[in-house]
Amino acid sequence: MQWMEIGGLDEVPRLGARVVRTGHGDIAVFRTADDMVFALDDRCPHKGGPLSQGIVYDRRVACPLHNWVISLESGAAMGPDTGCTRRHEAKVENGRVYVSIAAAEARTRGQGDGEAFAATGT
Ligand code: FES
Repeated sequence: MQWMEIGGLDEVPRLGARVVRTGHGDIAVFRTADDMVFALDDRCPHKGGPLSQGIVYDRRVACPLHNWVISLESGAAMGPDTGCTRRHEAKVENGRVYVSIAAAEARTRGQGDGEAFAATGT
């Protein structure tokens, strides 16, 4: 797993989010009241609303467009709505915030699979 440092915890507003622009799209890094951090794609599973501008409470964010509630822990919409936004690993170490981009990890795994497949071919 590759970690990318995105800055200090104090640069992410408590009960808010900071947007990180990556080659895999914008990622919203959220900070809860108890200073946990979570990272999701900055796209609501409903119609792509910017989750980074939503209201954070508990371990959830309410989308600013139509008020769907998304779990920060899983990226899944809470019932009765259905859908899921991509989630990324996030952590705080020594006051610095790190994110591991899920797509980058998937691509690395895919390359490994490809090599294994090629080795068994004739
Ligand atoms: S786009 Fe998020 S609730 Fe509609």
